[in-house]
Amino acid sequence: MGGARARVVADPAAVSGGFSGAGAEALAPGAGLLGRILPPEVAVVETSDDDRGVVLFPEEEAAVAGAVEKRRREFTTGRACARAALARLGVPPAPLLRGLRGAPQWPTGLVGSITHCTGYRAAGVARTQDIVSLGLDTEPNQPLPAWVLEAITCGGEQRMIAGLGTTAGVHWDRLLFSAKESVYKAWFPLTQRWLGFDQADITVDAREGSFAARLLVPGPLVADQPLTEIHGRCLADRGLVATAVVVPART
Ligand SMILES: CC(C)(COP(=O)(O)OP(=O)(O)OC[C@H]1O[C@@H](n2cnc3c(N)ncnc32)[C@H](O)[C@@H]1OP(=O)(O)O)[C@@H](O)C(=O)NCCC(=O)NCCS
Repeated sequence: MGGARARVVADPAAVSGGFSGAGAEALAPGAGLLGRILPPEVAVVETSDDDRGVVLFPEEEAAVAGAVEKRRREFTTGRACARAALARLGVPPAPLLRGLRGAPQWPTGLVGSITHCTGYRAAGVARTQDIVSLGLDTEPNQPLPAWVLEAITCGGEQRMIAGLGTTAGVHWDRLLFSAKESVYKAWFPLTQRWLGFDQADITVDAREGSFAARLLVPGPLVADQPLTEIHGRCLADRGLVATAVVVPART
């Protein structure tokens, strides 16, 4: 992933703002968060609103039967974003079910990732000929509780975070957490294996708005090579931190 637009930016004035519009097409491509840090091979749809008119497939309904309203809404809007993103690749609507450990089951030949947090939902999809896995995550741009930081860091990560300070209004501890969740969302579909927070050592390049996750456990083969690092980009804006990792089909 490249491009100067992907640098970490923070807009303190927008912290209490949020996106406007309604429905999964509310944000024009490139106008949101993840759309600014993903490569063109990824079709991404982002929204700030839950469109109450979205209808789930019966199989999807079953997956959230009995769920609390908040969970129903994020699941439903996530599906709406995913279908809109798939439509951009010419893929017709179909049920998107939860598979092993909650990973979404994408149609054959496609990969994707879904994220939702307060005031934001998004899904990104790509063709496996371009990208073998991707992971997206968003979090509120707020400090991580100290005990959580302790629990999710390994190696020199805490030192690295301290070195980045709080410049540009970015809570790097939260961004690190988000980066790890993105890495997991890309890792799991490739391996069907758990990846612990202490099994990927992340280095953030604040100036470039990028990060690298060094895998501390053997990774899967990608293009006949063992995957040892996963690369991503990050952004802070509108009161959120957003991270995206992409595992390209070709090294
Ligand atoms: C799965 C997990 C990453 C989700 O992150 P989150 O911040 O809680 O939630 P988000 O809203 O951003 O993402 C939720 C979406 O992630 C996706 N997801 C869930 N499990 C997944 C998995 N095993 N693989 C890939 N994607 C998954 C789903 O699409 C889910 O939304 P849906 O249930 O509505 O379809 C998180 O709950 C978790 O289990 N983390 C522990 C593992 C980890 O992060 N390890 C760090 C490795 S360095």
